[in-house]
Amino acid sequence: MNALEITKTVAVIGAGTMGAGVAQVAAAAGHPVLLFDAGAGAAQKGLDQIDAGLEKQVARGRMPADERIALLGRIQVAATLEDLAPAALVIEAIVENLAVKQELFARLETICSPETILASNTSSLSITAIGAALARPQQLVGMHFFNPAPVMKLVEVIRGLATDETVAETVFATAEAWGKQAVLARSTPGFIVNRVARPFYAEGLRVLQEGGADAATLDAVMRECGGFRMGPFELMDLIGHDVNYAVTCSVHAAYYGDPRFTPSLIQKELVDAGFLGRKSGRGFFPYGTGVPVPAVQTASPFPAPQQVRVIGDAPFATTLIALMQKAGITVETEAREDDGDFVILAGEATLALTDGRSATECVLADELEALVLFDLALDYGTATRVGLARADQTSQQALEDAIGLWQAMGKQVSILDDIPGLVVMRTVCMLANEGADAVNQQVCSVAAVDTAMQGGVNYPLGPLAWADRIGVARVATVLDNLAASYGEDRYRCSPLLARRAMTGGGFHD
Ligand code: NAI
Repeated sequence: MNALEITKTVAVIGAGTMGAGVAQVAAAAGHPVLLFDAGAGAAQKGLDQIDAGLEKQVARGRMPADERIALLGRIQVAATLEDLAPAALVIEAIVENLAVKQELFARLETICSPETILASNTSSLSITAIGAALARPQQLVGMHFFNPAPVMKLVEVIRGLATDETVAETVFATAEAWGKQAVLARSTPGFIVNRVARPFYAEGLRVLQEGGADAATLDAVMRECGGFRMGPFELMDLIGHDVNYAVTCSVHAAYYGDPRFTPSLIQKELVDAGFLGRKSGRGFFPYGTGVPVPAVQTASPFPAPQQVRVIGDAPFATTLIALMQKAGITVETEAREDDGDFVILAGEATLALTDGRSATECVLADELEALVLFDLALDYGTATRVGLARADQTSQQALEDAIGLWQAMGKQVSILDDIPGLVVMRTVCMLANEGADAVNQQVCSVAAVDTAMQGGVNYPLGPLAWADRIGVARVATVLDNLAASYGEDRYRCSPLLARRAMTGGGFHD
């Protein structure tokens, strides 16, 4: 399907945070744009905001001055809704209220041509429900941009039950022509990003609640070991706890109380206290001039064992062995006859990757001695930090040997409490599980999950591609172990993920 021709007029309604950004994106692509807002002077204010942003870009040498003039020249403020009659595509970015949006689109149906595509930028309302009030619901589609719209790559294109296939395809092609990455999804609560991202916050909150480590340390492990651009706590502080908590509550309610989306009491308490994050000067962390950056717990230096034994294999074994050899450590390797896990014997310590059980449980079940578990890294070669947890039965000396080994491999070490699945592993497995469930429930494709999470929230790797890298069978094991540890339905394995694990296949095979 072809994108909307650039000679066609795009109307944007609502000139606030999102509408102004969307108008800029459409004008940058070359369309004539009409910008309308019901608030007195609001459309002009939106246009002024666009101009202020463009001026900054020109000043920084990122945009030629004549391009700014041309782009602004393509955006016209509309005085009335009737002025939007010539639009081929109308994108609505007004207040998040079903009745108000329904009324707006119903009015547009009487103003615009029957071929005009009506698009909503809603984050949380059902496109199907908005369409129910329309005479031509087949012309309505979701076009969900991310904030800030000119910067964020992703656009979720949402099909309601009545949306015409060609309407969705045209909007998809148009978003791509505007330089965005488009993904197609069915109208379901949270669409893709706001659904699949829930565990990123929820698992961090659970680990914090259980005393796994303090928020700054967990953030550091998620960034420097997990490769995420921001940790969950600093990100929630940035988004605002009122907003983030409201999204979690609405997704939880929309899925009829599915425990996978249960909101956190820790976050509720912050909202109750008015500690909303950066915007109120305090969230998980304090903000303001002269406020020190919260301290990250990092282990002090310990000597590395000079000789280690590595038993078994793992996808990351070669990387770890190379790091140890580079540090001058003699590495003896040993193949495994059984299907036991990859372990490193270093001094008194036995080191293994978390499989979703606590180290304490592994010691009892697997008869391992002095076990120290390490967390999942995006890439052990480039990670600058690792999270370790010792079993309750493991000696201090064994822990120090494990710390010394990772330090010799060039990593800072954060000691976590013996929480099942540590922090990166359980978060990534739950993200992959949610992505798999979205695919299983026909919301979107495997590729759409990965594109959405990389383009919409900057994840370093799509959760399903990440599951393939870890090994889907291991992801299923981690989830099953978390489910057993907690006895909660929250950690149940998606049927699709379980199926892939059974055959040893991956999501991208
Ligand atoms: P905003 O409050 O910054 O702007 C909304 C604008 O719409 C205001 O200027 C207001 O005067 C105008 N407006 C309200 N009712 C109107 C009506 N009936 N007719 C015409 N104009 C009207 O809101 P924001 O943040 O830009 O959100 C707009 C929409 O985009 C919402 O549906 C929201 O869920 C969605 N969204 C917001 C994101 C965000 O990060 N803020 C991200 C993605 C989607």
